[in-house]
This record gives sequence, structure tokens and C-alpha cells, in this order.
Amino acid sequence: MSIDRRSVLAAALAGVFTLPLPRRALAAAEVERVDALIARMTVEEKAGQMTCLTDSFRPYNPPNPQVGIQNERQLADEVRKGRVGCLFNGIGVAGARRAQQIAVKDSRLGIPLLFAGDVIHGLRTIFPVPIAEAATFDPALAERTARAMASEATAAGLHLTFAPMVDVARDQRWGRVVEGAGEDVYLGSLLAAARVRGFQGRDLRRDDSLLACPKHFAAYGAVAAGLEYGSVDISEETLRETHLPPFGSAFAAGALTTMAAFSEINGVPATADRDLLTDLLRGEMKFRGFVFSDYTADEELIAHGFAEDERDAARLAVLAGVDMSMQSGLYIRHIPDLVKSGAVPMETVDVAVRRILYVKTAIGLFDNPWRSLNEDMEKARVGAPALQALSREAAARSIVLLRNEGLLPLDPAKGQKIALIGPFGEDRANLYGPWAFYAEKGKGVDVAAGLRAAMPDPAQLIVAKGSEILGPIDGGIAQAVEAAQAADIVILALGESQDMSGEAQSRTVIEIPPPQQALAQAVTAIGKPVIVLLRHGRALALHDGVANAQAILATWFLGSQTGHAIADILFGRENPSGKLPVSFPWESGQEPFFYDRKSTGRPVVDSNIEYKARYTTTDNSARFPFGHGLSYSEFVLDNLKLSDTALRWDRAIEITTRLTNKGKRKGSEVVQLYIRDRVASRTRPIRELKRIERVTLGPGESKTVRFSLSRTDLQFVGSGNRIIAEPGAFDLWVGQSSTDGLHAQFTLYAAEAVAR
Ligand code: BGC
Repeated sequence: MSIDRRSVLAAALAGVFTLPLPRRALAAAEVERVDALIARMTVEEKAGQMTCLTDSFRPYNPPNPQVGIQNERQLADEVRKGRVGCLFNGIGVAGARRAQQIAVKDSRLGIPLLFAGDVIHGLRTIFPVPIAEAATFDPALAERTARAMASEATAAGLHLTFAPMVDVARDQRWGRVVEGAGEDVYLGSLLAAARVRGFQGRDLRRDDSLLACPKHFAAYGAVAAGLEYGSVDISEETLRETHLPPFGSAFAAGALTTMAAFSEINGVPATADRDLLTDLLRGEMKFRGFVFSDYTADEELIAHGFAEDERDAARLAVLAGVDMSMQSGLYIRHIPDLVKSGAVPMETVDVAVRRILYVKTAIGLFDNPWRSLNEDMEKARVGAPALQALSREAAARSIVLLRNEGLLPLDPAKGQKIALIGPFGEDRANLYGPWAFYAEKGKGVDVAAGLRAAMPDPAQLIVAKGSEILGPIDGGIAQAVEAAQAADIVILALGESQDMSGEAQSRTVIEIPPPQQALAQAVTAIGKPVIVLLRHGRALALHDGVANAQAILATWFLGSQTGHAIADILFGRENPSGKLPVSFPWESGQEPFFYDRKSTGRPVVDSNIEYKARYTTTDNSARFPFGHGLSYSEFVLDNLKLSDTALRWDRAIEITTRLTNKGKRKGSEVVQLYIRDRVASRTRPIRELKRIERVTLGPGESKTVRFSLSRTDLQFVGSGNRIIAEPGAFDLWVGQSSTDGLHAQFTLYAAEAVAR
């Protein structure tokens, strides 16, 4: 399958979209119904529709004690009075039906509630965390897992998920790297669209369609020094070129809501930024859905030093274009008076309410307030056993084989004795990842269970913890060394706990915690063959015993089927095919680090030459670059051909290359096409990913892979925010990572040059 969404991406980059506007998705009678409703609403009822509160009918994620309405009775009263239009972070049909009953039957206007929640990588069945799944470089798979999540989430009484997170994340200190697609804008844009399509399905009115909410608008991943909730200071070009396209792609795929970021951009908190949320988002990007605030982010305008008090904060947020206030209750408390005093025009409120009611209409809530609230469906779909197979498939395909000095795959028939060492060997508390609060705790398959299930003689597995995640165990290292000595092969299961990445989990050092590193040193010193299984929600800087192991696998947080998926890879039932969506640096201090950086005036060509753009402690390359990932097969690319080395202004060139599987097993490779614009009016990255294609080949098989490039693929944000392509020379690489590949050149000719 060729993954070429050129038109979507070109449109995303150009800020021009053909959006499935909710208004157009509605029948004329439905539009009239919304207008008639708005005409009958009091300003308080309008503010109610613009208010989303945590769901005390079915509390899963306990409300913030300072702001949450803590009990069902109190919240029921608010629903009855029409003072809330959306409940979030609760699941379960029974509670939702109680709430909906009050909204529809007891409130004056009977407007149904919208039920929202964070279903980020699964509800009951947990799939790999999004950064792991990004390593598949496979939008089709991401679409399938999103569809599966939607099936469970809607059966559990949700209409909307606060996902996908489409923030491009280039600083691995930031904990929320785990929730997104990594450092690359192209891959991020493909996955953003795929996930939206998967969540929403083809028909928004179907019972199993889950509204998507791409977040956090915008550039939340660019917080300075990776500090969560921090400030973003960014050029207009980088904002537009790197951080907006995944949103554009998600909107073009049909997303009807988005969420404003907690952070500020260039001195203005996103939640109060009218240029961002109105002029750019709606004006330029033509977004026609509605905007959520993030959790109490409107209230936080006070702490930002941007609003005087709550009332001022509500005023700023609503005027900026935040339609739905999440959790603070500020809108219901202040909008009525803000309108009365003239500080907020009724027209602004009406526009926001209309957007929200259009979305409620678009998913069929007015016709059937009971959609997605069916107990039989809940029983049948939540935790459906069939989803486990998809979770296992996605997990195995998310694993990235970083290094393999001939050790893998293991042959189960050899009956080798394996010592499984480290805090993640026999541990079910850190399989899922940070956004799995609806999953059954302790139910996933851990590494030990997965290995035992795959070994002809499970007694050949010895397990020694050796160390806690963050602290040493008395005598732990000695025990681990003893286990390693008794074994033929050592597997070290090391890394981060699931609480060490995710929201509010910024770290200054992105390394294996010291007690685990000490364990690795001691165990590797005895000289047995060592396989390292990394558990992590971000790229890590690896050292010594860990970095020098014969085999290293990035295994992230893989979800419910972790152990089976890892065993599938270790024993060769699956051939690894994951690719890194984030660069692994040598040192933490290289962050932010990403492959598509600029050349500088003093690039490092020869590492012996001084006064070049590098650190004195390490050069500025990656230990494992973006796009890297090995296979048990040997894939070879050759025969790179361009249909023409002259790219005419309004034409395309075709690029072909041959991929051969020279190995003895069937396997998949992701062929990656990168370009570099040699000379431009704004310096361009040393490489930019422009195409990917995943190819599966049997032993000895070859396939010709075809790509096409045209001028729009070469565009960038030039001066005055104009999207331009500039004539001139380009490099092109077709390779297996961001640092290798077959090389060619072509030239883009200006329109006039062609005419002449
Ligand atoms: C997060 C959002 C999330 C929201 C609701 C916030 O703290 O930043 O990503 O959707 O909570 O749970």
C-alpha cells in the first residue's frame, strides 16, 4: 500500500482545507432546529451548553477537589437546570443514561448531553501508547486500533475522545511525547488523519462513531526545555510549518473539535489567544467545529498573569474562541453577567453555542439521545476478546529492534536457559502506559508470562528482579548476577515506569534510572549474551552496559498483550519492522534533538575538526536516528531512478527504487524518502521526510517501490507566512532511516523557465 496523502498534506501545509463542515453535514431542518433552539435559550442555558464538567454520575477519574462537583445529586441538579452541556471522564452506560434522562426529560429544553473522555490508547483493551504505535509507520494500523477503541468507548457510553494528541514533540524531556506521533511533521500528519478516521468511522451518526478531538492547539509540544505546561516561544514559520500541519490533516480527515493548549505562545496563553483560535484556526485553517479549553485552562489565565480574576478569564477565553470550558465552571458562573454587562456580545455566545449544537446534531444526538448508551452493546463490545488479537499485532509491530549483533531471534527449540532480569520482567503495573485509567489493573500479560507461554519448557526461565525501578534492592544485584551465571542468555527488562511519562512528567535526564543502570553493569560484566528490553514513553539516552548489549529493543508501553508481543519478536514468530518516530540521542543534554534540524554555518563533517556545531562531550548525531529499525531479514535498496532530474513547476517526477529481501524470512521494511532543499530564502532542514511506504517481502523477493513528488512537496513557509516553493537544486534520499539511503538530485524549474 502506498502511503501518499499528498493532497491532504499539501493542503494542510498551505492552510487550505476542504472541511466537512458540520453545517453542511446537517439537513436544512436540522440547522433550523438549532437556530430555533438558540432563539429560545436563556443566556444561562447557553453558558450551560458551553460548560463541560467531570462526570460525577460515574466517576472514574476523581474530580479535582477544588473545582469538581463532587456528587451525583448536585450535578443532576445542574443538568436539570441546563447549566451543563457536556460531562467528561466517566464511563458506563447506566450512569450515562441517568444523566441523559435528566437532560432530555427534565431540563427545560431537553438538550442531550455530550459524553467525553480520554481514550488515548484504549479503554478496556489497551493498545500500544501512541508513540509506540507511531513506530509502525503504518497509518492503516493506527486507523484500525482507533476504530477498535471507538467500538469499546462508544459501547461504554462515550461520544467523544480527547484524542488524538497531534503535538509534534521534539524534546524528549517532555513527558507527553508518549501521547503523540513523535518528532516528524509528515509522519505526525499521516497518523493524525488516520486516527481521526479510525475514531469517527465513516458515519458520525452510527452508534460506534467516536468524535475525535485533536489536541493541543497549538505547539504544546514546543514548551521550552520540555517543561510541562511551560511557555512556548516560537517563530511564526516554525509554528506553521512544524506544529500546524498535523492539525490541518486531522481537520481535513473530519475532526469537528479541538482543544486549546495549556501553554502560552509568545506571551499569550493559547486559551486567550484570539489570533490563534479565531483568526488562524477558523479564518485561515477553516476549522468549523468547536474548541474545548483544556482542564481549567481558562481559570489558569489568572496564574499566567493574563487575566485579573475569574470573570476576566472567562471573558478572555470566550472572546478568543474557546467554545467549551472544561471543568472550571467559569463559563456558567460568569457568561450570563458578562453578556448582561456588554463585556461579551450575545452574538459571540450564540456562535459558540451554535457550533456545539451543530456537533451534537451531526452525531445524531437530538434524534437519538440514547445513541451509544445501550447496555447490551456495552456487554458485547467492552473488553471483547477479539480486540486482544489486534492489540497483540499492534504491539509486536510497535517494537523497534535497535541493535542486533546476531543474537536474535532466539530459537525456542534450543531450549536455552533464560535469565529475565530487571524490574519490568515480572511486573503488571507498567504495561499499559500513562492513559489507561479505564483498564482492569494487573490484567495485562507481562514479559515473564509472555516468554513462558512461548517456551517449550517454561521452567527454563529464571526471573530475578535485581532492582526496583527507582531504588536498589538489598542483595538484588547479587541475585541477578547469580541468575545470569546460571543462564545461557540474559534478558534485561529496564526503563521507565508508566508514571514517568505522560502529563506533568517532564524529566531533565532521559536515562535509565541509576539503580537499574548499576544492575545492567553488573550483569553484562559476566559476559553472557544480553538482550535489553526497554520500557519507556520517550526516547532514552542509553549508556554503557545497556548501550553495549548484543541486542536492544525499544518496547515502549505496549498494552494488554505486552509479554506475548515481546515473545513473538524474541522467538521470531514475528519479524521486527518498527522504526523510530523519535531520535535516540547520545546524551540527555542534546535535547531538543530531531533529525530535520538545520545545517548551521559550521556543520560537522569530520569529527576531528574543531569549531564546528557540536558539543564538546558528544557530537550532534543520534545514537539511534529517526526512522531507524532493524529486521531479522536483510533489506537492500538499489536501482534508484528518477523519471526526470528536472521537475517542472506544474508536473511531477516519479522516483523508483528496488527493495530486495536478502534474508531468509518474510519481513517488512519501511522505505523512506527524504529531500533537502539546497539553497532557499530561509534555511531548510538537512533532511525532510516526504514519503513512506511499507513493503512486505518473502525471502529473496524484490519489489519496485514508486513515489511521486511535485512542487507542493517542496513548499515551505517563506517570508510573510507565504507558502512557497523555490526553484533550484534538491537532494533526495531513499533509505531505511533518516541517516542512510541512496542519493540523487533533481532541480525544480520555475514556471517561466519552462515556458521559455
Ligand atoms: C490534559 C488533556 C486531557 C484533559 C481531560 C488535561 O489535563 O491536558 O489532554 O484531555 O486533561 O482529561
